Amino acid sequence: MIRLAVLASGRGSNLQAIIDAVGRGELPVKLVLVLSDNPRAQALERARTAGIPTVVVRREDYRSRRDFNLEILRWLRRYQVDLVALAGYMRVLSPEVVRAYPNRIMNIHPSLLPAFPGLEAQRQALEYGVKVTGCTVHFVDEGVDTGPIIIQRAVPVREDDTVESLSGRILEQEHQIYPEAIRLFATGRLRVEGRRVRVLEEG
Ligand code: GAR
Repeated sequence: MIRLAVLASGRGSNLQAIIDAVGRGELPVKLVLVLSDNPRAQALERARTAGIPTVVVRREDYRSRRDFNLEILRWLRRYQVDLVALAGYMRVLSPEVVRAYPNRIMNIHPSLLPAFPGLEAQRQALEYGVKVTGCTVHFVDEGVDTGPIIIQRAVPVREDDTVESLSGRILEQEHQIYPEAIRLFATGRLRVEGRRVRVLEEG
C-alpha cells in the first residue's frame, strides 16, 4: 500500500473526504502523516480524531523559505511518504520539495485551471463573470497551479451566486474528485506524458 501524507493549512474538509474514503475501504493507501504550517488548523484535529500522526512546521521558525521547506522534506522522508496531497495548503512548495517528489505531489484547486490560479479562485471566477467554473486536481510542478491535470469537474455559476454559495458547490465536487484522483494514482492508473495525464483502463 502506498504511504500518503496530506499537507493542510486550514479547515481540512478535503482531508476529511480522504480520511472518510480510506475508512470506507475505497482508497488503497495508508494515511501516514498530516502536516500543517498552522498550529490552529482544524485539519490537525480531524487527523488526531482519525488517529493519524500530525506535525506542525511553522514558517516563522525558519530563517528562509528554503530551510522551512527542507524541514517539511525531512518529515516526508522520515515517514517514507510515496504520495503527497496538498489539501488547502496555502503556501507554494519550494523547488527542493517538488524535485524530490516528481509527479508524486497532488494539489486541489477551486477553478478549472488554467483559469484563475492563485488565491480566491472562486471570487476571481465570479468577478470575471464566467458561467462555468469548477475544480481541478493536478500534479504539482515548480509553478503555481500549473502542473499536469489529473481530473476536473465543472460547476455552473448561478445568477444569484455569492462567493460562499459558489465555493460550497465547488467544494462538494472537490470532495469527490480528490479521493478519486488518489485512488487512480494508488492503483497505478495514471501515466504522465508531458503535460497530459493519461488515465489507464482498470485491470
Ligand atoms: C478548497 O476549496 C481548496 O480547493 C482550496 O482551499 C480550500 C480548502 O478547503 N485550495 C486553494 O485555494 C489552493 N490554492 P479545506 O481546507 O476544507 O479542504
